[in-house]
Amino acid sequence: MSDKIAYSRHGDIAVLTVQNPPVNALSQAVRQGLWDGMDRAEADDGVKAVLIVGEGRAFFAGADITEFGKPPMEPYLPVLINRIEASPLLVVASMHGVSLGGGLEVALGCHYRIAVPSARVGLPEVHLGLIPGAGGTQRMPRLTGVEAALDVMTTGRQIKADEAAKLGLIDEVRDGDPKQNGIDYTQSLLDAGAPRRPVSEMETPAAIDWDGAFETILSRGRGQISPAWCVRAVQAGVEKPFAEGLAAERKIFMDLMETDQRQGMIHAFFSERAVGNLPELKGVEPRALQHIGVIGGGTMGAGIATSALLSGFQVTLLEMTPEAGEAARKRIAGNLSGALKRGKISQDKHDAILNNILSVVTNYEALSDVDLVIEAVFEEMSVKKTVFAELDRVCKKGAILASNTSYLDVNEIAASTSRPEDVIGLHFFSPAHVMKLLEIVVADKTAPDVVATGFELGKRMSKISVRAGVCDGFIGNRILSTYRTAADHMILDGASPYEIDKALEAFGFAMGPFAVADLAGLDIGWAVRKRKRAEGIDPAARDSSYADKLCEDGHFGQKTGKGYYDYSAGAKARVPNPDVMPLIEAERAQQGISPREFTAEEIVRRYMAAMVNESAKVVGEGIARRPLDVDMTLLFGYGFPRYRGGPLKWADIVGLPELLADMQEYRKEDPHFWQIAPLLEQLVAEGKTFDDLNKAAAA
Ligand code: 3HC
Ligand code: NAI
Repeated sequence: MSDKIAYSRHGDIAVLTVQNPPVNALSQAVRQGLWDGMDRAEADDGVKAVLIVGEGRAFFAGADITEFGKPPMEPYLPVLINRIEASPLLVVASMHGVSLGGGLEVALGCHYRIAVPSARVGLPEVHLGLIPGAGGTQRMPRLTGVEAALDVMTTGRQIKADEAAKLGLIDEVRDGDPKQNGIDYTQSLLDAGAPRRPVSEMETPAAIDWDGAFETILSRGRGQISPAWCVRAVQAGVEKPFAEGLAAERKIFMDLMETDQRQGMIHAFFSERAVGNLPELKGVEPRALQHIGVIGGGTMGAGIATSALLSGFQVTLLEMTPEAGEAARKRIAGNLSGALKRGKISQDKHDAILNNILSVVTNYEALSDVDLVIEAVFEEMSVKKTVFAELDRVCKKGAILASNTSYLDVNEIAASTSRPEDVIGLHFFSPAHVMKLLEIVVADKTAPDVVATGFELGKRMSKISVRAGVCDGFIGNRILSTYRTAADHMILDGASPYEIDKALEAFGFAMGPFAVADLAGLDIGWAVRKRKRAEGIDPAARDSSYADKLCEDGHFGQKTGKGYYDYSAGAKARVPNPDVMPLIEAERAQQGISPREFTAEEIVRRYMAAMVNESAKVVGEGIARRPLDVDMTLLFGYGFPRYRGGPLKWADIVGLPELLADMQEYRKEDPHFWQIAPLLEQLVAEGKTFDDLNKAAAA
């Protein structure tokens, strides 16, 4: 037997204990061990029942994802589960921690299921670009009915034990040690003469409108296909005998395994775990964090304070005046009442936070005791420097001084204090209590334990933290500026903002760039353009002023009711603002440009080429450590479709030589904008991919 499964006897019960840390993934050795364990139990004199239980954190976290993309190895999971279900012995699963994907499918192959109250189950395969591939689409609907099963598998959500019991997935929920619980429960089944109860032999559930469900789920997926394919697998299970349904499920699973979407999503799964794994932080202890200061309680400050409060920190927020402080408190209270409504906090917790844990002040002395302070005042260097001088004066020794600046030079801010080693950028995204991304901007003199504390803060706030170096816009906003410029160039040359948004939303972005600009506020981009013009624009760069005219007329996007779109019928019912195209046409005429047609395909290719090129520069210059850092930044901060893995994973899949050839073509028209990243040229010359760089960094 494999060392992954321990075999023990408890009276008439054989116990198979899974030992594959950290999460009992169903690797080949585990599958083989379970198979051998079943053989041994069936041959073991006097054994009447088998109990399967996991050791450590989980029952099973599912199939071993590291085996995906490699040739499948026997015993295959669906075959093993059929073999468990077909055993003449009574087979029971005792679940704790998570039972996900193939893990839940193993439990569904058992005849009875018991779980501790804290157990969670689910079929999250859609998050990996797959469907359940070991009988989940066939067995679950027989227990729960089709609608509940489709909800579970198309959302991939984790269900708590009590809900799973109500759905019919778990027979008994009982507190205690999973192994002892399982033995007691199995013994009680044997004592009661309970029969074997294979789910595959249960009645098939009622049919639904399969085509309608397929279309609805497909349209919800913004281009992601696997959730909709769950419908076809369940349909096969309802319409055909069990074995044929299972074969149909397997075929869909194997077909999806070959897709780019599966590659993209698995890249995202591993990258979001690898992103905080930096060699320079190994063994570096973060500083203690309990009390957080926030300067400025506007959009960002209030969101950051909310996120800190919800993560269990004490927060002191400083505003300029009592009135501004009151407005900040109201913003935070609004955010917290949203958390209360969504069941994220209790009423007591909500009241305690507002009455005792949050303080709003106007004097810097109140910050003398904070462990870390995050400045979120106006985006102006002179204002930031004044704030940091005050913080330098009042904050205790060892306190971390952070800025939420979007673009400004963190080295310059750090140099304005007497303790540059304690200064760091912590760049949150709006709304800060919702968005997952946190860029941790490491300045030249930032101490390693300050960086480690930034990552610790991100972890405690449940953020995806990405290390970034100092440059204009760091990783995300720098790349955004470039692909936005590519979009602006396409507008000058003949595309409309609406064609561009439509093409990119069809590509899978949550929103197109012009809808995003309206949401963020057009005044932000306007301020950046004004600053850059003041710094001096290269005369060779293409420029345009139609967007400034929109701002000059007071149209800042959603917050003023008009921007590229008109929102008078509500934020969702966006319609093109009729004032926009005349401004663009006037600009084209003034620049002597005859507009041409752009297909959706060309829009996507140019936009993505610009994104990939700037991303390659960001990696090449060391602003991002690895390609995966860029991918995670775009995924968690900029609405990049997860199923495409990120811009550099997308680039690998499309092919770097093809992308480089596109860029060389575009360069002929505009050599100033299309300056090709040396790293991209080097990878193509060496026949390598961005993922090769990720692998080299992990080695
Ligand atoms: N296979 C291989 N490795 C896995 C794994 C899996 N299914 N699940 C988790 N791991 C690894 C992680 O990569 C991580 O490795 P690292 O320490 O080297 O970074 C380690 O286990 C711990 O994982 P987390 O850091 O994510 O730990 P958490 O406690 O935060 O979360 C979890 C645990 C809820 C199990 C989470 O890891 C998770 O959601 N895993 C994926 C579950 C899943 O998608 N299962 C379905 C697989 S597909 C399938 O079963 C197909 C079948 O239908 C045929
Ligand atoms: P905002 O204008 O909504 O809020 C700024 C707040 O700071 C105001 O409430 C103002 O009263 C306060 N303030 C200004 N000077 C102050 C001072 N000297 N002392 C105390 N309080 C002061 O601005 P927003 O959008 O919250 O931006 C703040 C910072 O966050 C900027 O640096 C911005 O670049 C950055 N940021 C903004 C994002 C966004 O989407 N809005 C996203 C990420 C970063």
